[in-house]
Amino acid sequence: MNLSTELGGYKLSNCFMNASGPLCTTEKELNDLGKSSAGLFISKSATEQEREGNPSPRYVDTPWGSINSMGLPNKGYLFYAEQARQLAKYKKPFFISVSGMSLEENVKMIQHLSQIDEISAIELNLSCPNLPGKPQTAYDFTQTEIVLEKIMPLCSKPLGVKLPPYFDIIHFHQMAEILNQYPLRFVTCINSIGNALVIDSDKEEVVIKPKDGFGGIGGDYIKPTALANVRQFYTLLKKDIDVVGCGGIRSGVDAFEHILCGASVVQLGTILMQEGVSAFDRIAQELQEIMQKKGYQNLLDFKGKLKSL
Ligand code: DHB
Repeated sequence: MNLSTELGGYKLSNCFMNASGPLCTTEKELNDLGKSSAGLFISKSATEQEREGNPSPRYVDTPWGSINSMGLPNKGYLFYAEQARQLAKYKKPFFISVSGMSLEENVKMIQHLSQIDEISAIELNLSCPNLPGKPQTAYDFTQTEIVLEKIMPLCSKPLGVKLPPYFDIIHFHQMAEILNQYPLRFVTCINSIGNALVIDSDKEEVVIKPKDGFGGIGGDYIKPTALANVRQFYTLLKKDIDVVGCGGIRSGVDAFEHILCGASVVQLGTILMQEGVSAFDRIAQELQEIMQKKGYQNLLDFKGKLKSL
């Protein structure tokens, strides 16, 4: 069974990577991802300056997934640029996620990162839900177009965007129409469902400290929404923009479903936090078993081939 795929012009030995966020902030975490069986890996979303992030507790596991309001703790983009040079020894693509606090900050980081050979591609995060007072860019279609109009000509690396979930058919169409205007290489669907509220009924209180308990949820809660977004963008985007699936993948079946909806690559978020990098081996093994049972040799045998009734 062959799990190989391609993204951003890179050939990958398998279709699994980490979601930007879990276990990809520090040198140790990035090296563990480098050594893991993931086909490629990506950094925590970087800002210009190093950030501490929001007060703890700011990530909590729940029976159906997780909630977080990390607040972009990261070591600053120059740290990830330097890491890229060190991580090249793992001989697999390393992407940097960029999430500036302003358009100017994104411009500055992307111009710099574009010059560094060891960085394979950039995922521009348009969907951070956890910064008090800052809306998610990708829920503002006008601003999204302004950002892409400015960034695209400056970026000489393969560029993708990380999107939040959309919930209305017209929004899928409006966003796809914007994205189709640009030479994007991939779109990652989805970030966490933002500003959810998990509570502890015994204590009658919220479970995370920032923003009075409001945070992005991931895991089982979000798989149907993730599949819907992967499917919509796979259908609506021009064929040279690949879809990266993220949301609720904790088994081979979940990965299979994302690929059936059209994902070329799939990301592990909550399950990576819960299980560590061994999740890549387990889920890849489970996906191969499903393919074997179904008589599929390659991902292309079923990628995007979801049937309607
Ligand atoms: C954070 C969370 C996100 O979902 C994201 O896209 C970027 C940053 C955070 O809280 O650190």
